[in-house]
Amino acid sequence: MSDKATLEVNGQKHEFPLITGTENEIAIDIKTLRATTGGVITIDPGYKNTGSCESAITFLDGEKGILRYRGYAIEDLAEKASFLEVAFLLIFGELPDAEELEKFHSDIKAQSLVDDDIRKIIDAFPKSAHPMGVLSSLTSALTAFNPSSVNVDSEEDMYNSVVKILGKFPVLVAWTLRKKHGLPLDYGDNSLGYVENVLKMMFHKPNEEYIQNQIVVDALDKLLILHADHEQNCSTSTVRIVGSSHAGLFASLSAGISALWGPLHGGANQAVLEMLEAIKEDGGDTKKYMAKAKDKEDPFRLMGFGHRVYKNFDPRAKIIKGSADEVLEDLGIEDSILDIAKGLEQEALNDDYFVKRKLYPNVDFYSGIIYRAMGIPTEMFTVMFALGRLPGWIAQWREMRLNKEPIGRPRQLYVGETHRTFVNLKKR
Ligand code: SDX
Repeated sequence: MSDKATLEVNGQKHEFPLITGTENEIAIDIKTLRATTGGVITIDPGYKNTGSCESAITFLDGEKGILRYRGYAIEDLAEKASFLEVAFLLIFGELPDAEELEKFHSDIKAQSLVDDDIRKIIDAFPKSAHPMGVLSSLTSALTAFNPSSVNVDSEEDMYNSVVKILGKFPVLVAWTLRKKHGLPLDYGDNSLGYVENVLKMMFHKPNEEYIQNQIVVDALDKLLILHADHEQNCSTSTVRIVGSSHAGLFASLSAGISALWGPLHGGANQAVLEMLEAIKEDGGDTKKYMAKAKDKEDPFRLMGFGHRVYKNFDPRAKIIKGSADEVLEDLGIEDSILDIAKGLEQEALNDDYFVKRKLYPNVDFYSGIIYRAMGIPTEMFTVMFALGRLPGWIAQWREMRLNKEPIGRPRQLYVGETHRTFVNLKKR
């Protein structure tokens, strides 16, 4: 097979190298396109056909429904690894041994104090503030209290920044929830595991002993693993492009949180629950909402369905759907919302509009049902997504900086006014 692509523009043929990845994906290297064609560029709204980088972190095959982190299948990691093991794997490229994992966790715990002045920032927010806006602001504020920028060429400096954000972020997540509920803000308990500590920080009451529920701990650990990375999605691309200007790690992560907030992206898990609640309120009339989703005049979309890359079942959705049944049964919760979700899924999987467009349930379709069963408020669902995606964002940011990638600055095709002569105000 040829290792070149040929493009003919205005009768002139130009050749561009083909690059093949380790999973035999092929890319046309167009780094010289504009120079060799006298200014011709490509255009690709939403970057549906455009690769922004070469990456060794996550591989997914949307047609086959495959997802792997550093070569390990998501099914194996979700079943056999812990979230901290997966965070280490994504960021440093290998699964840690017992000693490395122990050190990683203790270094994270050592960094889990947040400057008390950050309370003043969170106190300034109204209780009605959406937790994602609060979290993005507090993450950016970390820069003010940890001003030294990361020297990515120093392994030690990079490692210290990684454990710093992995230690502080869960505190910010918990404070965001506790603030809304009028509970005092504290720093958790370093004698606990990472996920246990997250749950205790979020839910413990100052006048009661907090009792861990192992079902909830295991379910949250699995959910965080399933959300940990997903190659060049909207928020990860945001983290990479902000970091490409050599903005700091915390600032880049804050931008990623804002991108994740959108209902077309991470905000979909909240939108799914709100949609299912609306259908329940409407007497469970799923057919009405299916019709709305197919009506081009109606802006309504079936939230939790469809995906830019998966044109098969999202492997994460399969795992989460299985967990939803287990968690609700183990917790002894009857949730009619789950039945509505399953009914909607069955209808969509047999509906020509969805089948033709290969619209399947994605990671957000069932996750909210489990979060709700854990007692997590709907507005916090996307915050939990951010907690899971944190190691992925860090890994992708680190890779982009270590690869010394140039500042991200796309081109455009100008379609506005051509040159016009200025007319003075008096004559207009
Ligand atoms: C995440 O990128 C990632 O990896 C993201 C993520 C991650 O881990 O980071 O996986 C997490 O963001 C999952 C997606 C969560 N979003 C939602 O569930 C929102 C609902 N889904 C859609 O908005 C949509 O499917 C997107 C945004 C997810 C994908 O949109 P695309 O790839 O731009 O597809 P499209 O909008 O071009 O849709 C193609 C067709 C269109 O119809 P036609 O114009 O061909 O007639 O499918 C239709 C769309 O109208 N369509 C839907 C639909 N999704 C697509 N119609 C009804 N309901 C939907 N959900």
